[in-house]
This record gives sequence, C-alpha cells and structure tokens, in this order.
Amino acid sequence: MALVNTRKMFEMAYKNGYAVGAFNVNNMEITQGIIEAVAEEKAPLILQVSRGAREYAKNSYLRAIIDVVVKENPEIPVAINLDHGDTFETCRQFVDDGFTSVMIDASSKPLEENIALTKEVVEYAHARDVVVEAELGQLGGIEEDVVGVSDDDISKHLADPNQVEEFVRKSGVDSLAVAIGTSHGAYKFKKEPKLAFDVLQEIADRLPGFPLVMHGSSSVLKEFVDLINKYGGDMPNAMGVPEDSVAKASKMAICKVNIDTDLRLALTAKIRQVFCEKPGEFDPRKYLGPARAKVKELVRHKVHDVLCCAGHAFD
Ligand code: G3H
Ligand code: 13P
Ligand code: ZN
Repeated sequence: MALVNTRKMFEMAYKNGYAVGAFNVNNMEITQGIIEAVAEEKAPLILQVSRGAREYAKNSYLRAIIDVVVKENPEIPVAINLDHGDTFETCRQFVDDGFTSVMIDASSKPLEENIALTKEVVEYAHARDVVVEAELGQLGGIEEDVVGVSDDDISKHLADPNQVEEFVRKSGVDSLAVAIGTSHGAYKFKKEPKLAFDVLQEIADRLPGFPLVMHGSSSVLKEFVDLINKYGGDMPNAMGVPEDSVAKASKMAICKVNIDTDLRLALTAKIRQVFCEKPGEFDPRKYLGPARAKVKELVRHKVHDVLCCAGHAFD
C-alpha cells in the first residue's frame, strides 16, 4: 500500500471504535522507532511534521525518511500530515509536496475567518485528493511554534458544540480537532487532569459519523519523567492526559490522536540513562540506538493498549 489519505482510516476507526496514532517526527531515529512498532503491531499510521520539525530537520530530509518508511513497509497504510499549518500558502506547499493530509489551524481567528480559510484550503486540497483537518476551540500550552492559551484559561476555550455543524457544512473539512481540555507539551494540568467528555459527546452527537481529532494527547508517563529526573533532568510537576482518558476518547468519536511529547520523553529518558550509566560513551549509535528502541516500545504500547488500532492495518 502506498501513501494514503486518512478517509478510509477514519471511516474504519469510527466504525470500529479505535483511534489512529498521529505521531510527530523530527529525525530518523524517532521515525524508525514508530514504523518498526506499527509494522509489528499491524496498525495504520499517520506521520506528521510540525513547523519546528521542518525548521530543525528540513522538510526534504523528513520527506526522504518518510518515503523510505512507505517503500519498506508496503503492507502498512501510512498517511502524512502537515501539523498545524498556519496559512493557505503553507498548506498549498505541502499538498504540492505530496502530503496526503494537511491541517489548517486557524483556531485563534474568529469563527467566520476560520471557516473561510479552511474552505480555501479544502478546495485546493480536495482537487488533489488530499484531506484537510481544521481546529475549533483553543488548546493550552506553548510549544516552539504553536502558541496556546494559558493553563488557567483552557476551560474557557473549549470547542463550542453550537458551532460545529455550521463549521463542517460551510468549510467542507474532512476532520475536526476539538479542544476538550488538553494542551501541548509536558505540563498539561496544574491539578487533577480532566477532559471535557461531555463536550466531546455533544459534538459527536451533532456530527454523526464525522471523525474528530485530539491534539495534546501525550500522557507524560511517570516511567519516563522519573528516569529523566533520576539521571540529572529537572521536570517537576510534569503531567499529561491519563491513558485511560485517551483510551476512552479513542472509543468515542476521536479517530486521530496526536502524540509528540511522549516520544520526546522516551527518547530523552533513555539517552540520559546511557549518558549517566556509561559516561565514557561517545558513539551516537550507542545512545541513539537504545533511545530508538524505547520509542518503539512506547509506540507499540500506545497502538496496542491505548488507541487499540493494533491489528487494524488491513481494515
Ligand atoms: O503541535 C505541537 C507539536 O508538539 C509540535 O511541536 O513545534 O515544537 O515541533 P514543535
Ligand atoms: P503532545 O504535546 O501532547 O504530544 O501533543 C502533540 C500534538 O498535539 C501535535 O499536534
Ligand atoms: Zn497539536
């Protein structure tokens, strides 16, 4: 199977009550860890590239790595998505570059502007068999290139169920990221982690059969934070979305679950451990290799135990 767009993936995910993992890639080791995991678990896959990733690794390098992934794993359906595209021009460039999915994130703009920009991207993308994801409501947290609302304001910026039908009808978008209390990064909650499942259910009721997307879905696993802190790191109060909440959302209308931070934590934890336990080691293969294996282990766990898309590559 060559590169695919997400239409069939989402149709199957919705019907069968699982979610497809959308993993952010920044380098070769992360990408290899992900594909080795999903190949073994026979899971569908979405690889995505953020602006930060493009600036770090250059899109041409990431594209070349992804092309090898697709070529060497012909049995696995793989979609490639532009994560948080911010302008029509950026989305057009990625459609032209052969991405099978683009996200236009105009969620910080007023509703009418968000609809108009999304529609413009949809018209360009659909003419080339590329699907489009848009966003309603605003996430919290601040990543390098994705600015969210402050933590105290998250509950005031949830997606508004009253807007979703109009948004989807007028824009023609294929999937919708809905803010339900998550945020990007490793510090998602100050107190008890809580998602707005009532909002998610209301949106799902208003859009029967329509695939929804959850950003900021990393769980910031204690195992990795503890390792990082044990081996010289400093990540107090890191907190993610509990995995049972991600699993619950995946069984509802969430068909795509975005994960980046958990990959970074797995990689960093292992590298720190090797550096501390073997201070004389200076061969990058000796720490990037084990770090890649940790990423693989993590992704196997996610697709098998949390998103429950393992075994669904051939749906
Ligand atoms: O959407 C957020 C992703 O985690 C990307 O983050 O811009 O630092 O690559 P980044
Ligand atoms: P995390 O920071 O929770 O991994 O979210 C990633 C994301 O939403 C990418 O778009
Ligand atoms: Zn995101």
